[in-house]
Amino acid sequence: MGFLTDRRDPRVAVIGLGYVGACIAAVLAERGLDVAGVDVDPHLVDELRRGYCRFEEPDLAQLLRAGVDTGRLRVGTDYAAVAEADVILVTVGTPVRLDGSLADEQLRGACVELSRHLRRGQLVVVKSTVPPGTTRDFVLPLLAGGGLVGGTDFGLAFTPERLAEGTALRELRTFPIVAGGLDAGSTRDAATFWRRALGVDVVPVESLEAAEIVKLADNWWIDLNIALANELAKFSALYDVDVLEVIQAANGIPKGTGTINILLPSVGVGGSCLTKDPWMVWHSAQQRGLEIFTAPAGRRVNAGMPGYTARLILDELAALGRPARGARVAVLGLAFKNDTGDLRATPVLPAVEALREAGCEVRLHDPLVDPDEAEKLFGLRPVPDLDAAVRDVDCVAVLAHHRPFAGIDFAALPVTRPCLVLDGRAYYSRERIAELRAAGFHYRGIGR
Ligand SMILES: NC(=O)c1ccc[n+]([C@@H]2O[C@H](COP(=O)([O-])OP(=O)(O)OC[C@H]3O[C@@H](n4cnc5c(N)ncnc54)[C@H](O)[C@@H]3O)[C@@H](O)[C@H]2O)c1
Repeated sequence: MGFLTDRRDPRVAVIGLGYVGACIAAVLAERGLDVAGVDVDPHLVDELRRGYCRFEEPDLAQLLRAGVDTGRLRVGTDYAAVAEADVILVTVGTPVRLDGSLADEQLRGACVELSRHLRRGQLVVVKSTVPPGTTRDFVLPLLAGGGLVGGTDFGLAFTPERLAEGTALRELRTFPIVAGGLDAGSTRDAATFWRRALGVDVVPVESLEAAEIVKLADNWWIDLNIALANELAKFSALYDVDVLEVIQAANGIPKGTGTINILLPSVGVGGSCLTKDPWMVWHSAQQRGLEIFTAPAGRRVNAGMPGYTARLILDELAALGRPARGARVAVLGLAFKNDTGDLRATPVLPAVEALREAGCEVRLHDPLVDPDEAEKLFGLRPVPDLDAAVRDVDCVAVLAHHRPFAGIDFAALPVTRPCLVLDGRAYYSRERIAELRAAGFHYRGIGR
């Protein structure tokens, strides 16, 4: 394809400037590439042009601003911008419907629009997570609707995005990229592009479908592994055993090509990926007559954790002589995990709902989330000041442990004593727990 035939750096278009697209566009521009970003959301485009970044991701805002300021990153709503590109990356959202099937509106819109602007010699690379077969059976015919032939006139590959929010930029610069093409030429071109663009290792695979399944396998494993950790936590709690001690001691023995690596239990799994990708697996299998058991099992276990956490709080409060009705609970951290402001599918929401249903008075505090978004989701305005959030509460529930929370001096908090500290994702050390107890707190973690 075009960019392989000369020595200049490939020019890139990124379609969809959401979380993933913004991170990729920013890192590619940082690497010195010429990037045109396209999104259908004019507000998002306007924000990016003004140097504002709505995603709470370490260093992303500065990187995007630098890209826009140097002119290496241009953003807009007009697909005409893709004409100049050698490589077109598709990073639109791919949510699932209630039955686990792909809600394909964003992908369809992007492909239809792209088909009108595609020209010979370009390489289209899908990065959005999709059910196996989507790139070949859905994306390819839509792109070919413009009259060009895939594999002959333009290249087509699937290279999954495997970054995690909170550590996205570092992972983008270092993680190996899996590449599967429509044909050998597309695989080779995609591999060449990523090696040149990011300087990372590339793992070529035999087909589009293999690359699509790799992404699903990663998230299937992560969700199921967390489910194992969550059930191990409940199991350990039966014996008054600290699950973190068990996990640390169990992990590390060689197994297969790695070691046993049980992940961490928590208030639950959220975000836009782990909550949907296992269902994508399950639905895709169903469509072909195969019943998959593990993916839904992981989902069910993890979806039950917010309720388990709320129950833990209520039981511990009862043991301290505080009935649920009227008990005051401060929830620190509303996002779906530590160090992100992302509220998508946050497990904190069902935990808070369960507490409020039981009659608790809940106050919310999170310095990373957008307060308007939080108010819309929780029906409660977060309290910006930590002291005001915890004043006279019976329980401080740390449900996402963002970096600013590391410095909290619990001894100085104006809470009722004894006060419960519910550790939903902070993983406090033994020393920290001893300090909490000395300061008049009662500590309880998930499986601890
Ligand atoms: N968020 C993550 O941590 C993560 C990690 C790995 C992979 N993924 C996958 O990456 C993909 C994108 O995820 P995200 O979190 O960035 O989603 P997102 O919802 O944040 O962003 C999607 C963007 O695409 C834009 N868009 C929709 N239709 C469009 C169109 N026709 N043309 C141009 N732009 C359009 C939307 O306006 C939005 O800005 C998904 O498939 C997701 O599963 C996400």
